[in-house]
Amino acid sequence: MPNARVIGLRSVELGVPDLDKSAEFYRNVWGLEDVISAADTVHLRGTGSEHHVLTLRQRPKASFLGVHFAAANHAAVNQLHAQAKSYGASVDGAPAALSRSEGGGYGFSMRSPEGQPIFVSSDVDRLAEGRQDRSRPTKLTHVVLNASRTDDERAFFIDALGFRLSDSTDMMEFVRCTSDHHSLALVRTEGPSLNHMAYEMPNVDGLMRGAGRMKQAGFNVEWGVGRHGPGNNVFTYFVEPNGFVTEYTTEVEQVDEATYLPHDAEYWRNFPGRPCRWNMAGHPSNRLKVAMAGGLINADPNGDQRCEDVMAKTLGR
Ligand SMILES: [Fe+2]
Repeated sequence: MPNARVIGLRSVELGVPDLDKSAEFYRNVWGLEDVISAADTVHLRGTGSEHHVLTLRQRPKASFLGVHFAAANHAAVNQLHAQAKSYGASVDGAPAALSRSEGGGYGFSMRSPEGQPIFVSSDVDRLAEGRQDRSRPTKLTHVVLNASRTDDERAFFIDALGFRLSDSTDMMEFVRCTSDHHSLALVRTEGPSLNHMAYEMPNVDGLMRGAGRMKQAGFNVEWGVGRHGPGNNVFTYFVEPNGFVTEYTTEVEQVDEATYLPHDAEYWRNFPGRPCRWNMAGHPSNRLKVAMAGGLINADPNGDQRCEDVMAKTLGR
């Protein structure tokens, strides 16, 4: 077992072709708030104390730029760096002070076995709790990655970064770095790419209010509202204007480290409430399946136009 562990999920980074429009969506429709903006980058926060939960960077095409995890302190960052190197991960140099203009702190970056960009940091600025509004996300609570070499990816997160296995299904591996049932999940499919990102809402009423705001802005619920098997979380999924899949979720199972035992694929194969414990949600829309497989824009020849249509409707342009 590794000595040092990551202890939290901080944020995702997305490359977007229209930074202003994307920031407007995440600000006015999704419910985040600006923290720091520069000419080509916007950092947005939830209502929790994490400095930012989403970074948007101007890029020619929609692209997944990475996921950021937290370490306890400088020593833990150094240990994780050493663990990743000895594991054989592709590490981009030694840990160093991070840019003050992005929340500061100390950290390093690396690639997972399949090349997913992974960042680890400590001592990033924390913010006072944001305005209390249950319709707005508190934090980023999990990220799901598509992986061709799923077993290699799972081993990397567990053996090099200290994640614990929560559950396995025929399709997915759920791992955690906090008391949340999963901070990260891996899908057995073609990869590497981003499957989706999930933002925590304070309660079911807040989730429904956020989902209603999305619906009024022209975004269909592509899957949900429902309650997942693994993790027991309430979910509702959307395709955002760039083609990424984003989820409002709440009530994720809290794992007791001393007593929790992972369930295997056979357990979930026989689980009665599939794919929704309430037998409410049915299956994801075809549009969501395309987007989850690696991004609507990349996977669908009409994706650019379809995203433009949604964006135009949303922002009245
Ligand atoms: Fe999810």
